[in-house]
Amino acid sequence: MRIAMIGTGYVGLVSGVCFSDFGHDVICVDKDAGKITRLQGGEVPIYEPGLDQLMEKNVAAGRLSFTSDLAAAVAGAEAVFIAVGTPTRRGDGHADLTYVMAAAEEIAAALTGYAVVVTKSTVPVGTNRQVKQVIAKANPQAEFDVASNPEFLREGAAIEDFMKPDRVVVGVQNDRAAEVMAEIYRPLYLRDYPVLSTDLESAEMIKYAANAFLAAKITFINEVAGLCERVGADVKEVSRGIGFDGRIGNKFLHAGPGYGGSCFPKDTAALARIGQDHGFPMRITETVMRVNDEVKARMVEKLRDACGGSFNGKTVAVLGVTFKPNTDDMRDAPSLTIVPALVGGGARVRVVDPQGKAEGEALLPGVKWEEDPYKAAQNADLVVLLTEWNEFRALDLKKLARKMEVPRMADLRNIYSPKSAKQAGFESYTAVGRGQMNGAAK
Ligand SMILES: NC(=O)c1ccc[n+]([C@@H]2O[C@H](COP(=O)([O-])OP(=O)(O)OC[C@H]3O[C@@H](n4cnc5c(N)ncnc54)[C@H](O)[C@@H]3O)[C@@H](O)[C@H]2O)c1
Repeated sequence: MRIAMIGTGYVGLVSGVCFSDFGHDVICVDKDAGKITRLQGGEVPIYEPGLDQLMEKNVAAGRLSFTSDLAAAVAGAEAVFIAVGTPTRRGDGHADLTYVMAAAEEIAAALTGYAVVVTKSTVPVGTNRQVKQVIAKANPQAEFDVASNPEFLREGAAIEDFMKPDRVVVGVQNDRAAEVMAEIYRPLYLRDYPVLSTDLESAEMIKYAANAFLAAKITFINEVAGLCERVGADVKEVSRGIGFDGRIGNKFLHAGPGYGGSCFPKDTAALARIGQDHGFPMRITETVMRVNDEVKARMVEKLRDACGGSFNGKTVAVLGVTFKPNTDDMRDAPSLTIVPALVGGGARVRVVDPQGKAEGEALLPGVKWEEDPYKAAQNADLVVLLTEWNEFRALDLKKLARKMEVPRMADLRNIYSPKSAKQAGFESYTAVGRGQMNGAAK
């Protein structure tokens, strides 16, 4: 199969690289010429474990290339994927479809023979039909079908997720398009991964329903964590206790500082908007969004309490700023709420992140970047564990405590325990949904 991938961001690049590894000929397109130049030079513009080797292998095999010439990539392609961004539209929460529709128009002009135009971007119900209309209007002679193929990969585990997916969802309108999609995903059919073939609207809805459900699950345990703090329960025990129930499952039950990232905030907002537009408010999703904002705000108060009521004049070391480990993505990360609150409150803030500096520097003004957590903690009044990178999971707590002016820790990922913090010499330890330690540790 010959595939053109329009948009070479997280999803487009990972999908393009993996499709080429399936044996297809893939040309990845981006309008960001700088990104294409880097890719042509063999440089991966994002941090994603394993992506560089897989990209190198498939470029060397002659199956994968990069260009900013969309027309050349689309000419002769049997499938053209749209993998451009669908950020939140300013003001109303709706998914901004400007990039998708602009790509559709450009594709229309470049089609040379029958092709399936596949939307991989996360888009509201009805968008694939709209893409079809846009292409048909711009090029009435074009012979094409549309397909919806939402992506479920997780940043940080993207290759594994793409190659060994829980499922692939394909929405089509006829057998011809279904056959092209089946050919593209044949390696996964052969390995018995579930490939769900459905209609366009259901495929579009599946993606939003999945993300809204996961956001709700995280937010549920975050809310339970708040109550655990009031009643003296330990949310880690509660998560374990409910997670063994097969109907609930143990994934996405880790209490923390609130969800962020490139998808959940914008997709919950878009689903809420879709509900409002259709006179059917998605009340659970709307509440989830509100509670998640409250969770993040509660974290700031937790840190303020840990600092004795004010950030002013305090030195705070923040470990981890990306929205989760194993990615350099800072989009809607909880750090973007928490760090400015620290800086704005008068704290001197030092941050450490294994991959976050390049993206984070412009987004977190007024902080000092450090390479080493112990250096960041030197003479600090508080250490905040914000993203659970492996580097921060096995810290020498005694060493850390010794470096500090006042050994206090706010562990917003519940990696350590009140007991281990106390044993290491911390004078206070605050976590999420668990017993605090200000002397008596459990
Ligand atoms: N990032 C994720 O984890 C993830 C997971 C599943 C689904 N998605 C969805 O996939 C879509 C893409 O997300 P992303 O994170 O890869 O976005 P991104 O911002 O990383 O990448 C989008 C790319 O598209 C390029 N682009 C925009 N318009 C173009 C055009 N007309 N021609 C060529 N290139 C163009 C941009 O320059 C950019 O490089 C979104 O709808 C998102 O919701 C993302």
